[in-house]
Amino acid sequence: MIPNETIKKIQEEVNIVEVVSEYVNLKKSGNNYVGLCPFHDDKNNPSMTVSAEKKIFNCWTCHTKGNVIQFVSKIENISFSQAAIKLGKRVGIAVSDNLNKEDEKKNRLYDLLDEASNFYQFYLNHSEEGIKALEYLHNRGIDDEIIKTFKIGLAPDLYDSLTKHLTKKNYLELDQIEVGIARDGNKGLYDTFRNRIMFPLSNVYGRTIGFSGRIYNQVDQAKYINSNDNYVFHKSDVLYNLNNAVSEINKKKQVYIYEGFMDVIAAYRCGMKNAVATMGTALTKSHINTLLKLTQNIVLCFDGDSAGIGAMHHAATLFSEFNVIPYSVVLPNNQDPDEYIKEHGSKSLYDYLNNEARPVYEWLYRLAKKRLVVGDLISSESFKKEVFAFLKETKVSTVVEYYLNQMAKDLNVEFESIKRDFDKYNFSYSNYQPKEIKKEVKETKTSSSKKVKRAFQVIIKHLLYDSQIYNKIDGNEFIDTSLNLEFSLIAKIFEMLTSDTNLINNPAYSEIIINELNKNNNFKAYIDQIINDKTIDINDKKEFEDCVKTKREYLNKINFKKQKDKFIKQPNKENVDKYVQAKRDLLG
Ligand code: GTP
Ligand code: MN
Repeated sequence: MIPNETIKKIQEEVNIVEVVSEYVNLKKSGNNYVGLCPFHDDKNNPSMTVSAEKKIFNCWTCHTKGNVIQFVSKIENISFSQAAIKLGKRVGIAVSDNLNKEDEKKNRLYDLLDEASNFYQFYLNHSEEGIKALEYLHNRGIDDEIIKTFKIGLAPDLYDSLTKHLTKKNYLELDQIEVGIARDGNKGLYDTFRNRIMFPLSNVYGRTIGFSGRIYNQVDQAKYINSNDNYVFHKSDVLYNLNNAVSEINKKKQVYIYEGFMDVIAAYRCGMKNAVATMGTALTKSHINTLLKLTQNIVLCFDGDSAGIGAMHHAATLFSEFNVIPYSVVLPNNQDPDEYIKEHGSKSLYDYLNNEARPVYEWLYRLAKKRLVVGDLISSESFKKEVFAFLKETKVSTVVEYYLNQMAKDLNVEFESIKRDFDKYNFSYSNYQPKEIKKEVKETKTSSSKKVKRAFQVIIKHLLYDSQIYNKIDGNEFIDTSLNLEFSLIAKIFEMLTSDTNLINNPAYSEIIINELNKNNNFKAYIDQIINDKTIDINDKKEFEDCVKTKREYLNKINFKKQKDKFIKQPNKENVDKYVQAKRDLLG
């Protein structure tokens, strides 16, 4: 972090009117200056004021305001620190030396990733393979303007072209591995992403933090692969396109959340630029925190299939913890925006997205009602339970009453009887099972399993060298060693620790453990690999903590699957309770 005094000094010394004038035509008005606000579509009615005296700017239409550093950071799409450095230079205040190690490292990795993104973009537009890839994109309605806006690129179908390029430009090999664009093979580094159309992922300042790559000329591969979580990339925090969407979100005071980034691009094509998407995972509190800082007017645009309904239910529940009821809009025939545009055109998509947004409960109710066969007792009961399930999640009693009333009408029964059933209803999951969130299931198969593997390797390496951390891990969790090699290894270490209680204080701890494990050839090969893995730093306690968290989530997932199977086979009270608990653990 840059020290506060330095920030203050820059603000004092820099002339805000002069800086803003470089981007905006300012006119004097009384003590202040006014001009067209660059952060929203301010065509005729200059609504931004700059005060030389107070050293701030303020737009009374889109409410963007702040000091001169914030202005430059916003308009140039760079981080606050970078803006401070830039302005510091203007007035001769050196800032870069004050950046701490963490910031320095982040900047280094951002630079590397930006360079990789440039490389991919260049390759798309200047190569033989690029012609085919462009053809694919154009066929999907993604024109050159969109390609440029979303910085879409192409990873060559070659072994190590990107990493060679980066190394030649003096980017460190370890950094390339760390951000996940290169891997260490036995013949040196090779590219992680090959033969894929590349979508860069940015932080809110527009710096590249990772990639998602889509297949375009193959079928037998995962459709998308994403960067793994690392120092600068945390998938569960990322909102695709947020950096581009911010000004539009501010302007419209509304944001649409989609399931995938192709949906975001489709929305953009119909002029709905206030669009973001999660990275194929369920919405998290971190996403919600980020968005609620911008607006409370949230619209979910998920598929209408069971997975989409599950995701909507999940989102509604999370938002209710923030006392917010999001809106929702569901396209007909289970289409996603991209498919819808193809069939009906962009004007129709625009109208639909704008006109059909309703409070999420309305859509959940409608979708449940669609499956109701009036007069059929069994259908009526499952309809009731499905609606009860989401009504139990809302804290707003008028919402509950409204839909109970609606149900009474739709089922042609008295309100009182519906109300009695609702009060009696325990959210037991026995009749209504919120569907798995489909994208999460896909994740386990691809990138997250690598993440989990890495987490175990990190934990094992720490366990080998630091006896004192064994109490951060519960050895009992690893008893079922049939699961994988990592489990057997950790179980073995704990077995040694429990059979010899002096071991943890023995100075030869590492040697003893490693010797013992080496007696098993499988263990030996694997341990050698872990010990020699230079990317695992046993002094990095932060990474260790993160890996313990990943391990927790993984074990929760396994436990959830196990409890679910049990509960489906035998839905008695005990199994239901365990299942509900496992589900809660899983959702955190
Ligand atoms: P297109 O098929 O290209 O139109 O993309 P889409 O956005 O329609 O994909 P889909 O609805 O299947 O998935 C939505 C989101 O889930 C994507 O944007 C990805 O983030 C994620 N996703 C889908 N398939 C995969 C996969 O195979 N691996 C990973 N890691 N993520 C995926
Ligand atoms: Mn699609």
